Amino acid sequence: METRRRFLKSVGLGSLASMAIPGISNSASPPSQVKFVSTWSHGRVANKVALKAYKDSSDILSAVENGVRVIESEADGRSVGLGGLPDRSGRVTLDASIMRGNGACGAVGALYNIEHPISVARKIMEDSPHVMLVGDGARQYALQNGFPDKELLTDETRRDYENWKAKEKPDLPPVNHENHDTIGLLGIDPQGKMAGACTTSGWAYKIPGRLGDSPIIGSGLFVDDEVGAASATGLGETIIQVSGSHLVVELMRGGKSPKEACREAARRITKKFSKWKSGDVQAAFIAMRNDGEVGAFAIKKGFQYAVQEGEKTDLMDADYLTR
Ligand code: GLY
Repeated sequence: METRRRFLKSVGLGSLASMAIPGISNSASPPSQVKFVSTWSHGRVANKVALKAYKDSSDILSAVENGVRVIESEADGRSVGLGGLPDRSGRVTLDASIMRGNGACGAVGALYNIEHPISVARKIMEDSPHVMLVGDGARQYALQNGFPDKELLTDETRRDYENWKAKEKPDLPPVNHENHDTIGLLGIDPQGKMAGACTTSGWAYKIPGRLGDSPIIGSGLFVDDEVGAASATGLGETIIQVSGSHLVVELMRGGKSPKEACREAARRITKKFSKWKSGDVQAAFIAMRNDGEVGAFAIKKGFQYAVQEGEKTDLMDADYLTR
């Protein structure tokens, strides 16, 4: 495929090189060992847990699910699971999605008092006729399927919320790296099977009912064994506008490297979302191609991503558009 692209470009048919041609597969050799990439510094822990889960299960979906579950249970992260900041009514609501590279996917939105939305998303994917459940229905489904009821507001986040509410003009804080925002985790196994998981408590003090990009397949997460996978973090309202993760995967299908694809998706957001110039808007993407190459890109400085190759974990600073 690469050779074909290079040839078409060399004879001046570059645009043809970026078109998917029926019958020509984007197949590539998968990496020799399992590989993961995930968002933010909490990704290091998630990656290690994913690796262990892969060794235990030989299933790349179970690996990414277990990797993000550990972050959902961490009480000190303010934007995922337990300890996540609540909406403006004081309730912590969670969004998550999970996807295999064969197209199977599940998602849950505005789920409350359930610790592991990612596992509810997987349950929906595997055992329900649907892809996505939200709100009360999602919670009922989770309870009926044995997920325990759990208060997700901690003493610290209750105090933060009370302080926020007591402000003269309580407003939405910027989504930024201080509150970490979303764990997205992508994996590939040596057979070329890919999977991804994405989970968040969303924008702190959001209007009740708000969904971000994370539970929307194609925005917060997209996985296709034929090409690769992508996940997003940052201001969901901007990522949804460009169907961010699907866009990244399709840009890779067209021949862009994972990093170039993430950069182009970030650039498209800045074209559509003029408010990004205020400096308050962060959105970032991670991507993994089906040969294991990874890349990332952000709108602004501060986004980090964690790469796991075998036993080795690296935390990388992503390049960004605004300098
Ligand atoms: N990216 C997470 C959110 O906007 O909810």
